[in-house]
Amino acid sequence: MAVNSQSIRVGVLGSGKGSNMVALAEAAALPDASFKLVTVISDTVKAGILDRARERGIPATFIDPGQFRTKLDAAAEARYVAALREANVDYVALAGFMRILKGDFLSAFPQRVINIHPSLLPAFPGLESWKQALAHGVKVTGCTVHVVDAGVDTGTILAQQVVPVMDDDTSDSLHERIQIAERMVYPQVMNVLGRGSAILKTDYDK
Ligand code: GRF
Repeated sequence: MAVNSQSIRVGVLGSGKGSNMVALAEAAALPDASFKLVTVISDTVKAGILDRARERGIPATFIDPGQFRTKLDAAAEARYVAALREANVDYVALAGFMRILKGDFLSAFPQRVINIHPSLLPAFPGLESWKQALAHGVKVTGCTVHVVDAGVDTGTILAQQVVPVMDDDTSDSLHERIQIAERMVYPQVMNVLGRGSAILKTDYDK
């Protein structure tokens, strides 16, 4: 893998199939990339994201999330922070990680935890945002890359990509269109962060 000497080291957390992680990994493998994926961690032992990472030679680990369903308990939080520190990450990129991160985790990586959310925040925070968009009848939605803070999908917005809502969209077709946009914009943002530049490209150019 060709890596820019200025590369930032990124750890990815995910619970699902890992399409965003794959997009990040493919972008990181390009010669002019300014970030590299150094570890992938999941709270779900059989998550596809772990297999997709291992196929690409990226260290991938299940870490027990503890006793709660929607967050990490204190011991688990310490395990996650320790693993990310062990991998010497500069940034943590959330890619479908289905747990809220708070307190000690965020203060371990201040302003360095990034998330991708499938709506144009602040519209439709929380779960299944594409279904919320359909239910409200909006004509455009999209995705947002943002810094994670103590709220739910409330941190500083770094980039957004607009996606049209079609008259005949189903929940699945809209979600798929949003995910195509996610896979473009998330790598762009990580490259910008790696270059230390504030200029983000947000055009929807297929
Ligand atoms: C993405 O659609 C993202 O918006 C949300 O979780 C989903 C993860 O999908 N936060 P994948 O695991 O990257 O395919």
